[in-house]
Amino acid sequence: MTLLSVENLSQDDWTFRGADTRYFSHRYHDYPARMIPQIVDRLLSQYASDGGVLFDPYCGSGTTMVEGLLHGLETKGTDLNPLARLLARAKATYVDTEALDVEIRKFLEYSMRPRTREYELPPWLDAERVGFWFKEEVVQELMSVYSFVDHIENREVELFFLVAFSETIRDCSNTRNGEFKLFRKPKEVLDVFHPDVFRTMIDKLGRNRTAYGEMLGFMGAKRNWRKSEVFDFDSVKAIPADAVPGESVDIVVTSPPYGDSHTTVAYGQYSRLSSEWLGFAEAARVDSMLMGGKRLRSIPSFPSASLDGALQKIASHDRNRALEIASFYADLQNSIHNVAHAVKLHGVVCYVVANRRVKGVDLPTDDAVTTFFAERGFEHLATHRREIPNKRMPLRNSPSNEPGATDSTMVREIIVVLRKRA
Ligand SMILES: C[S@@+](CC[C@H](N)C(=O)[O-])C[C@H]1O[C@@H](n2cnc3c(N)ncnc32)[C@H](O)[C@@H]1O
Repeated sequence: MTLLSVENLSQDDWTFRGADTRYFSHRYHDYPARMIPQIVDRLLSQYASDGGVLFDPYCGSGTTMVEGLLHGLETKGTDLNPLARLLARAKATYVDTEALDVEIRKFLEYSMRPRTREYELPPWLDAERVGFWFKEEVVQELMSVYSFVDHIENREVELFFLVAFSETIRDCSNTRNGEFKLFRKPKEVLDVFHPDVFRTMIDKLGRNRTAYGEMLGFMGAKRNWRKSEVFDFDSVKAIPADAVPGESVDIVVTSPPYGDSHTTVAYGQYSRLSSEWLGFAEAARVDSMLMGGKRLRSIPSFPSASLDGALQKIASHDRNRALEIASFYADLQNSIHNVAHAVKLHGVVCYVVANRRVKGVDLPTDDAVTTFFAERGFEHLATHRREIPNKRMPLRNSPSNEPGATDSTMVREIIVVLRKRA
């Protein structure tokens, strides 16, 4: 099966330039460093066997899980970011269309009623922060939408609405467009910014309903929809056997973070406004919970000589930066050892990584991944390289967030494929 919209693309070309990456439920909601679904589709076509179990230990918004479903696989994912879990669940969940359409119709009627009620903020929202990030009239309209969504009884329909609501929150906030980090629009832009909350929500619901209808058409019937579960465990610490038993996984397809969230992609910051509105307790802490979020005191030695060499070079000018980077790789190594245990004999793992350059030194994440798995008896099957033409992520990054200060570059992704042999 292939859902590629680009013709005549060679099997060696993993760039997928010009491909539509927003088909089916991939259209629902943005997410930083989202994976290109065509990559997962091709990896599954090449390496997955029929009816197996697919696991993504860094599932983000669920790209791998959606593709797994389209390939008839049982899918499991985990992520520490609660917004990511919401998105992954919603994108991979079967929703009864009759129940969904009833609620959409009710919402359209609700949107036309005059709004007379004054809402109080729920206790989990901080009035000062809300006042900074949202205009007062927007807050009242968001509360009105929220109160509708909160009364939806069907769990899957509610999930569908929550995803549209999360995007509505972002689009109607005072944040600058097109940025994953939170920056407030300048005053002159805010003065003329009057977002229509209900219109935004209705547009999202309509767009997502169309995408879901197309996906249902592809899936054929509900019975083709295999089980899909999203967990919240940290694979750096352990993989609970009741969620993903040892030696139970046929294939892993994943894109781990590129480095710690503070200096690479700020997943928590991107998710923060929605997560606060949705009452996720971890909203403010996500970035420090993620891989590399806790700093080691000394630089360990890794099984990859090229990684050790790169860390030494960086440490010779900037020891703190080297410690920050080593902390990330130590977490990646622990996570990989736990993932290796969950994979069946002859099972396949596909890691989509990027080799960052920090302070002029290349960090060989592909070699790190290969050697971490080799420590657990995996053999190398293939490495595919791709330019990044359409992934929204920082190509240059400033850890200090100072304009113009750049420190790290990512322009190429590497897909490492390995198999468990012992
Ligand atoms: C590159 S993104 C994955 C994007 C995903 N493939 C998609 O298409 O949306 C990496 C994800 O790893 C998650 N993450 C980082 N550290 C984690 C950890 N220790 N355990 C679980 N998830 C983690 C982040 O929250 C982020 O969602």
